Amino acid sequence: MKSIVVQQPNALVIEDRPLPVPAAGEVRVKVKLAGICGSDSHIYRGHNPFAKYPRVIGHEFFGVIDAVGEGVDSVRLGQRVSVDPVISCGHCYQCSVGKPNVCASLVVLGVHRDGGFSEYAAVPAKNAKVIPDAISDKHAVMVEPFTIAANVTGHVNPTEQDVALVYGAGPMGLVTVQALKGVYKVKQVIVVDRIEERLAMAQRSGADWVINNGNQSLQAVLDEKGIKPTLIVDAACHPTILQEAITLASPGARIVLMGFSSEPSQIVQQGITGKELSIFSSRLNANKFPVVIDWLEKGLIDPDKLITHTFDYKDVKDAIELFEKDQRQCCKVLLTFS
Ligand code: NAI
Ligand code: MN
Ligand code: ZN
Repeated sequence: MKSIVVQQPNALVIEDRPLPVPAAGEVRVKVKLAGICGSDSHIYRGHNPFAKYPRVIGHEFFGVIDAVGEGVDSVRLGQRVSVDPVISCGHCYQCSVGKPNVCASLVVLGVHRDGGFSEYAAVPAKNAKVIPDAISDKHAVMVEPFTIAANVTGHVNPTEQDVALVYGAGPMGLVTVQALKGVYKVKQVIVVDRIEERLAMAQRSGADWVINNGNQSLQAVLDEKGIKPTLIVDAACHPTILQEAITLASPGARIVLMGFSSEPSQIVQQGITGKELSIFSSRLNANKFPVVIDWLEKGLIDPDKLITHTFDYKDVKDAIELFEKDQRQCCKVLLTFS
């Protein structure tokens, strides 16, 4: 079989590898579609501190089960599945409190272990989530990115009364906007970014109001309208954003951080405690595949609005380069496997 392998930073090749044999408790997935994410690019470029090389990248993938390992029921053969990339132990403290996404022995497919940019992938049977027939292949491959939004919003229980502010209109900001509007019916969702084309995408995903903070002060724009957001999601992830969010937030507001910056953020505690703000962080997803599959079945979200390009997997280098260089035109880029 062919696999897309990052041998070391900046060295990506399509390699012939032996067909994987599913171990006990595993299934083999014949991959049909995969999605390119910022983290694939970061592993490719050597910017992911968790990655070990060589690595088959890809953690957003969909396909059909074509072999099962020992102890896995053969009824699973032929099932259409999306794969949850989060592999957890099930018994550590984090797992016991519903946070397998930060398991003591966390393994993420495509990061710590070979992932889905491959014609076949062997994965734990319980990570291969069955996709109902009513959900198309293209929607199925988008389950993982939306689980990030399910995890973010799951921390804060948005309500129709919320005024939400989302920083960043990249893929992560847009899935969050779709969840806030489509699932939680939040009355006002404001999106801030510096790229007009991305703000236009945010509007297509349901944003009520978009603000370009490249040429004006976000605070001045919100102050002028007397708006104090009650829920703020940082999907832009610059270390300076936290203090700005604290300043802009309404008393009692919730802030969710998604960034992994290693640079310090300077913050003033009085701004947090004086308004009794709640600050959450969100990493990957904690058992959110069933949640997103339900959203898709009910038509509450529309992944098509995020998919801008599709490439044959053989053209993966072109696909990643376009994804990296063209933030104006690109959002989600998919790879097709025969
Ligand atoms: P992206 O780079 O495509 O989008 C980020 C957007 O933020 C861009 O459109 C950019 O113009 C905008 N931006 C940057 N600085 C800004 C500022 N100061 N104000 C307003 N807008 C600003 O990235 P993507 O894929 O949407 O991911 C966003 C972030 O989320 C990344 O930092 C990534 O590491 C993180 N991430 C976190 C996950 C988690 O589970 N916690 C999962 C996936 C991504
Ligand atoms: Mn992803
Ligand atoms: Zn665990």
